[in-house]
Amino acid sequence: MRIDIFSIFPEMFSGPFGASIIKRAIERGLVEIHTHNIRDWATDKHQMTDDTPYGGGGGMIMKPEPIFAAVEAIRGDDPCPVILLSPQGRVLDQQVVAELAAHERLMFVCGRYEGVDERVRQHLVTDEISIGDYVLSGGELAAMVIVDAVVRLLPGALGHELAAAEDSHATALLEGPHYTRPLVFRGWEVPAILRSGHHAQVAAWRRRQSLQRTLERRPDLLATASLSAEERAWLRSQGYTGPFAHDSNDT
Ligand code: ADE
Repeated sequence: MRIDIFSIFPEMFSGPFGASIIKRAIERGLVEIHTHNIRDWATDKHQMTDDTPYGGGGGMIMKPEPIFAAVEAIRGDDPCPVILLSPQGRVLDQQVVAELAAHERLMFVCGRYEGVDERVRQHLVTDEISIGDYVLSGGELAAMVIVDAVVRLLPGALGHELAAAEDSHATALLEGPHYTRPLVFRGWEVPAILRSGHHAQVAAWRRRQSLQRTLERRPDLLATASLSAEERAWLRSQGYTGPFAHDSNDT
């Protein structure tokens, strides 16, 4: 996969992309990430990338010309997705992440200031994504979040491919608790079942923990989860009164 990111602060990306999973994915040749400074495509003598809004009001608006020039120069005639990060976009979830991970190439345009000229939205970008209902100072952190979530889905990025499929949200359920050594920490002991060696019982316990945690913290996720008839009955017995998905695995 190739990812191009357009920003007036490209230096912000060096930390997150230089560590851990993303760094390793780059080293393994699974992803190429190029950051571009939009200012390099500004043509006036002060290399301005923003200007005051027509109609008045506060704040500065990012000018269209440098953004169009930058994206068009790097994209060529590749019809790849060009994604504007903005609180007005569709909200990121694991399904959107999986959809993005299926592309060979992605481009991200990071807005700043009060916003970007509307013509960027209307005539340049092909998608607009928000990472949640809150306002960041710019799209850079949002782009980092999306790139991280996408790259870890690329085959070979984690080194243990089951892990991504088992993640919270990949199955629409939250994960249950995890433990490692020591067996007893400050008097708190690891549940005995995890040391029993009964793989089927461990799997059943984990599944139940996952259901219980989802019920407690994110009952809204149960409406779309794939659940057996027994699991649904158990959730009802625990007080869940919400809907279940029609396509549930009825066994
Ligand atoms: N830019 C500012 N706020 C944002 C958000 N919540 N998501 C994506 N980009 C943003």
